[in-house]
Amino acid sequence: MDSAPVNSLSRGTRAGITAGIKAVMADKSVVGVIIRGAGRAFCAGAEITELSGAPAGKSLQDDEPLTEMMMRMENLPIPVVAVVHGFALGGGMEVALSCHYRLATKDAQFGLPEVNLGLLPGAGGTQRLPRVIGAAPALEAILSGAPMKADKALKLGVCDAVLSGKDEASRLQEALQFIATKLGKPRPVGKMPVPDAAEAKARLPAILKAAQTKRKGEKAPVHIYKCVVAAIEAKDLAAGMKEEARLFVQLLASSEARALQHVFFAERAAAKLPKRFQAEPAPIKKVGIIGAGTMGGGIAMSCADVGMDVVLIDATQEFLDRGLKVIAGNYKRSVERQSITAKQMEERLARIQPSLDYGALSQVDLVVEAVFEDMKLKKDIFARLDKVCKPGCILASNTSGLDIDQIASATSRPGDVVGCHFFSPANVMKLLENVFGKASSPRTVATAMDFGRRIGKIPCLVGNCPGFVGNRMLGPYSKEAEKLALEGAPVDRIDRVIESVFGMNMGPFKMNDLVGLDLFWRKRKTEGKHNPNVNVEDALCDAGRFGQKNGKGFYVYEDGRTAKPDPFTEGVLERIAAHRNIDRRPSEKISDNEIIERLVYPLINEGFKCLEENIASKSSDIDIIYCFGYGFPRWRGGPMKYAEEVGLDTILAGLEKYRRWGQREDHWTPSALLVKTVTEQAHKKAKPAAKL
Ligand SMILES: NC(=O)c1ccc[n+]([C@@H]2O[C@H](COP(=O)([O-])OP(=O)(O)OC[C@H]3O[C@@H](n4cnc5c(N)ncnc54)[C@H](O)[C@@H]3O)[C@@H](O)[C@H]2O)c1
Repeated sequence: MDSAPVNSLSRGTRAGITAGIKAVMADKSVVGVIIRGAGRAFCAGAEITELSGAPAGKSLQDDEPLTEMMMRMENLPIPVVAVVHGFALGGGMEVALSCHYRLATKDAQFGLPEVNLGLLPGAGGTQRLPRVIGAAPALEAILSGAPMKADKALKLGVCDAVLSGKDEASRLQEALQFIATKLGKPRPVGKMPVPDAAEAKARLPAILKAAQTKRKGEKAPVHIYKCVVAAIEAKDLAAGMKEEARLFVQLLASSEARALQHVFFAERAAAKLPKRFQAEPAPIKKVGIIGAGTMGGGIAMSCADVGMDVVLIDATQEFLDRGLKVIAGNYKRSVERQSITAKQMEERLARIQPSLDYGALSQVDLVVEAVFEDMKLKKDIFARLDKVCKPGCILASNTSGLDIDQIASATSRPGDVVGCHFFSPANVMKLLENVFGKASSPRTVATAMDFGRRIGKIPCLVGNCPGFVGNRMLGPYSKEAEKLALEGAPVDRIDRVIESVFGMNMGPFKMNDLVGLDLFWRKRKTEGKHNPNVNVEDALCDAGRFGQKNGKGFYVYEDGRTAKPDPFTEGVLERIAAHRNIDRRPSEKISDNEIIERLVYPLINEGFKCLEENIASKSSDIDIIYCFGYGFPRWRGGPMKYAEEVGLDTILAGLEKYRRWGQREDHWTPSALLVKTVTEQAHKKAKPAAKL
C-alpha cells in the first residue's frame, strides 16, 4: 500500500490492492504474498471523509467494496502475510486480519478505534478478531477502542511474531524467511473456528457491562456485543458479516455516531490556533507551580508525568508537606493499580522540587499560579513572579474566572501572561481552557497550547470574561437547577434526570457539593452579599453544610461518598420559596423534559452569547470544553451540536416559551446570534430550490 501519508483505504488504495490480487491470481509462479505499507505506517484505516458518502460527482456503485477486497485476499490459495509497522488501525487492522498471518515490528500498534466514533469495525473486524484471539478478548479489545502495542498483540495472538530487524530491508528478509516456512499453508481466518466459543458466551455480558459504565448512553457497545455473539453463533463468516453490516448501517445513521464524529473533528479543530496567534511555541522543560493545593498538586503531577522538572511553591512548610503527601499518595495508588511502576513513581516524585523560596523560580520556562481565588493575592504573586522569573518565562494563572488583564497588569510584561484553566482533578481531567488577555502575545498563547498538548491535555483557546466559557455557561445552568428545586422538583430528582435521562456525568447539586458550597459563601460574606433568606447555598452553609467535604451539603454523605437526599434541604427550599414568593408545584407536575430544557437551553443560549462576543471562536470549541471539562455526554456531541440536532428554532422557541411562563432572569433573553441564525435558516428554507 503506497498512498501518502498513512495509506488510508481510500477508493484508490482499494482499487490498487484489488488489482494486485488479480495480478497474483493470474500468475501461477507466485507462491506467497506479503502486504505492507509504504511510509510511516501499515494503514490508518478508512478514509474518514468518505464515511458519509461518495465524493461529489461519484456514485458509490463504481467502487470496490472493502469487504469484497478483503475476501479476495483471504481466499487466495497461497499464504498471505501482513507486515505491520507504525500502526494498523480500524480498516487497516481489518486488512491485516484478512491476511493469513501477521508479523509486526516492535513499534507497531494494532487497534480498532471505531467505537470512539460511535461505530463498529464494519469490514469483518468483529468476525475475524474473535476467530484469531477468541471472542472474549476480542470483545474487550473492540470495546476499548484503544491501540494495542506489538508485545501485547503477540501475547494475545493478534500477530504471529514480532520482527527484530532494525531497518526495512532486514525486516523484509525476516518476513520472507517466515513465509518460506508457510508455503502451501494458507490459513484463511474466516474459515477458522472461534477458539473460546464454548465458554465465551457466558463471559461476554460482563465485558459489555464494564464498557457501558465508561460509555454511558452510547449505542455502539451493544451493537459490537451483538456482532461478537454472531461470530460465535452464525453458521459461517458470510452470515456473521451480514449481521455486522446490518448493525453497522444502523450505527452509521445514528445521531450518536454523528455526535461522536463531531467531537473527534472538534478536538482536532480546537488545537488549531487562529491566525493572529500562530507563532513558534517556546520550549518548556522546567515548570514552576505556585500553590500545592488541590489544583497545584494535580498540575505538578501532569508535568512530572511527561518528564518536565517542577518547582512547587507554597506559603508554608506545612502546606507544602501536605501537598506533597497528596501527590505521593496519588502515585502510590497508581502503582497499586499497576498503571505505573514503582520506579516510574520514584522518578516522577524526584522531578518535583518543593520550595518556599520564589528564587527557585529563576530558571523555569513557565509558571502556573494556583493559589486561592483572590484577585489581590494573585496580583501580589504575579508582581513577585515578574521580579524573579527570567525574561520570556510564560506566566500563567489557573484562575477559574478572574480577569486575566487585571492579573497581567501587576507585571511589567503583560504579553507573557495567559490563563491556563485546568479542571479538577487536574492530573486526570483532559480539558485545559487557555485564556488570552488583551496583551497576551502570539508566542505566549502558542506556548500555552503546546504546553497543554505536551502534558496530555486537550487545550482550547478562549477569550477573557468572567468565568471564561465553561464556568460562564455553567452559571445559568446551576441557577435554573436551584430555581427548579425551589419550584418543587426534589434535588435528587433533578440530578437523576440530568444524569440518567440526559447523560451528564454528574448532576448540578452533586457537583456543587463536590466543589464545596463554602467558597462563594465566604466570598459573599466578605462582600456583604450574604443572604440566607433568598440564597439556598448561604442557608446551607450557615447551617454548617459545606458539601461532600464535611459530609453535608445539598445531600448528606453518611459514608463520606454516597449522596443521600436530606429533608433538611427540602425544608430550606420550602422556606426560601415562601420568602421569595415562588409558587411550588408537586414534583409530578414537573416533567423530565422541563427539567432538561430549563437547565440545558439557557446553557446553550449562553454558549451563543460567548460566540457573539468572540469569547469562543467557534461553536465546536464550546463542545470540546463541555465534553472534556464538564461531563457533557459525548454521544450528544456537546451543547452546541446538541442544539443543532434538536434544531436551533426549537431552542429559541423553548427560551421564549419559558419567558412567557414568567422566567425573568437574563439567561432567558435569547442571544442575538441565535435569533439571527434561526432567521437566516428560516429564510433559506422558505427560498424555493434553485432550478438545476
Ligand atoms: N478546585 C477546583 O475545582 C478548581 C478548578 C479549576 C480552577 N481552580 C482554581 O485554582 C486555584 C487554586 O484552587 P485549589 O482548589 O487548588 O485551592 P486550594 O485551597 O486547594 O490550594 C491553594 C493553595 O495555595 C496556597 N497558597 C495560598 N497563598 C499562597 C502564596 N502566597 N504563595 C504560595 N502558595 C499559596 C495554599 O496554601 C494552598 O495550598 C484557584 O484560583 C481556583 O479558583 C480550582
